[in-house]
Amino acid sequence: MSETETPEALTSTQPALVVTRPGGREVLQVQDRPVPEPGPGEVLVEVAAAGVNFIDVYQREGVYPMETPFVLGKEGAGTVRVLGDGVEGVSPGDRVAWAMTQGTTAGWATLPAGSLVPVPDEVELETAAAAMLQGMTAHFLVTDCAPIGEGSVALVHAAAGGVGQLLVQMVVARGGHVVATAGSEEKCAIARSRGAAETIDYTAEDDLEGAIAEAAARLGAPDGVDVAYDGVGAATFDASLAALRPRGVLVLFGGASGQVPPFDIQRLNAGGSLYLTRPTLAHYIARREELLRRGQEVLAAVASGELDVAVDGRYPMTEAAEAYAALEGRTSTGKLLLVP
Ligand SMILES: NC(=O)c1ccc[n+]([C@@H]2O[C@H](COP(=O)([O-])OP(=O)(O)OC[C@H]3O[C@@H](n4cnc5c(N)ncnc54)[C@H](OP(=O)(O)O)[C@@H]3O)[C@@H](O)[C@H]2O)c1
Repeated sequence: MSETETPEALTSTQPALVVTRPGGREVLQVQDRPVPEPGPGEVLVEVAAAGVNFIDVYQREGVYPMETPFVLGKEGAGTVRVLGDGVEGVSPGDRVAWAMTQGTTAGWATLPAGSLVPVPDEVELETAAAAMLQGMTAHFLVTDCAPIGEGSVALVHAAAGGVGQLLVQMVVARGGHVVATAGSEEKCAIARSRGAAETIDYTAEDDLEGAIAEAAARLGAPDGVDVAYDGVGAATFDASLAALRPRGVLVLFGGASGQVPPFDIQRLNAGGSLYLTRPTLAHYIARREELLRRGQEVLAAVASGELDVAVDGRYPMTEAAEAYAALEGRTSTGKLLLVP
């Protein structure tokens, strides 16, 4: 370690949220673990809040295989306390946030200095933790995957969810129009409050494809939507494909309802020379300058009030299973946080 701000704040052990083996929420345990030491190029951060995300569920269940036991969590915000050797551009006391860095749902975490984004003074650390992973995801979807411009018409599934509420706001902020789906009338009302022009409760709809087509036509897209942003996956994939205009783009970015099975690529031809991509945030923040630009744009939009991050629940780490139950059981709207 080369520089320490408050060594007295450090204890020898700290609580961390551990996945003991692949499985359901019963495999989650809060364990006392040694406080990690930052290696060269790393910093030790005191974690203020950690984000609850679907990728944690995929890792816990083994959909994304991980060697167990492992510390869960890929998102958070906190205060830099100790610098490892060779770290430049970060100082003890700095307020920072991160996403897609493994093992950070803990009291303290070591992170590569290059994975940190500075948090503006106006943004609370908890809000920053809530904004990073879902916010940068919504950001790369609307700016790079299928860019939204003035008059674009987009289909957004699960629009009252964490990514969904941010995605609706970002599409509308760029002059686009949103056909939103969500799992209840209350959730549809949340999507409308975020700017969705049309909403469909897909749990109450017998003809989802027809309802989406009618909604798109009302928004001036009688041939179908320009882009479908689909994080629900198995349950909505067919409707998303059917919703597109010729040469439209299906962005499948998750599988909250289950992973989409292999499909016949000729369906892209028959549907009208369609495009399909299955992106992940890691590839859209892989370069340091892209991470900084994307993270800073999201946090600046939060600071200015242009982007509102809805924190739906704060849980102590010992109640992590309840937080994941809410996410997996479709009862959450917006972001859930774990507070070490
Ligand atoms: N590719 C990436 O880099 C990336 C990054 C972040 C997130 N994601 C993906 O984005 C999606 C949304 O993530 P999030 O964290 O913002 O979650 P979320 O949207 O807050 O929660 C998931 C929502 O999906 C809907 N859903 C539909 N069927 C479901 C089912 N069978 N089980 C559970 N949920 C179901 C529910 O909303 P309704 O009740 O309204 O249907 C639920 O609230 C996930 O698929 C996640 O993997 C991808």
